[in-house]
Amino acid sequence: MQYTRHQAWSILLRLFHWCFALSFVTLVITGLYIHFPWTNTMLEGSSTFPVATMRYIHFIAGFVFTGALLARVYLLLFGNRQERFWDFLPITPRNIKNLLATLKYYLYMGNTAEHRLGHNALGGMVYFITFIVAALQIISGFYMLYPESTFWQVWGLKLLGTQQQARFLHYLFTWYFLIFVATHLYIVIWNDVSSKEGMISSIFNGTKYMPKKS
Ligand code: HEM
Ligand code: HEM
Repeated sequence: MQYTRHQAWSILLRLFHWCFALSFVTLVITGLYIHFPWTNTMLEGSSTFPVATMRYIHFIAGFVFTGALLARVYLLLFGNRQERFWDFLPITPRNIKNLLATLKYYLYMGNTAEHRLGHNALGGMVYFITFIVAALQIISGFYMLYPESTFWQVWGLKLLGTQQQARFLHYLFTWYFLIFVATHLYIVIWNDVSSKEGMISSIFNGTKYMPKKS
């Protein structure tokens, strides 16, 4: 079968991906350290402030993560065809059909996967849920960071409950992300090995290979 090369992802989407992914790794390491400061012993003395340093790095990465998500929200509405939400969410008959076919394909129950330049509807749906969880993670983060701000008090309380409840949710969402990333890496590697689209390189160079229509 012959393949042709197509532009799939814009520069902004790739920048979003790598800012989101790298800030996420920083946030997990520093966040879990804030949760359980594993190196902080009584022997350490008071001249170093590891938790304060980790919190500082956490907040800087938190701002990068927030900027990345805002860029993705812009692309959901104004990005190229593959990047807009109606291209990949199961809200059209074409995408609902694609969702069922992809589920069957991943469960080894059929070989009818449709080659798409953008995300399939299953992947797209999971990414969209991830954006919503990322927004909640950001709201809970800013709510904890600025407890004295009336804006965050009002919205934090409305959406997530008290400070303690928001902190607990912030911690639970961390586990959602960890499970998402483990599955995400498995699936992109599996796809890259089992098809000739060049999926992994697409998130670096923006292009994918599609079967040539004869
Ligand atoms: C070395 C590590 C990683 C590689 C090689 C990688 C690769 C990819 C690839 C190839 C895609 C496009 C998939 C498709 O066409 O359906 C993608 C999308 C995505 N990845 Fe990753 N990824 C990595 C790490 C991460 C991490 C740590 C996160 C964050 C938690 C993440 C979040 C996402 C999201 C949200 C998308 C959807 C893109 C969009 O439409 O906005 N990735 N990734
Ligand atoms: C995926 C992104 C993020 C992850 C995985 C993450 C992870 C964590 C974890 C595990 C904790 C410790 C919670 C506990 O003690 O049980 C934490 C605390 C915290 N995070 Fe995040 N976080 C993320 C994004 C953010 C963002 C965007 C902000 C906003 C700037 C933020 C601000 C905070 C604050 C203020 C705390 C409390 C620090 C303290 O009480 O000392 N986080 N985070």
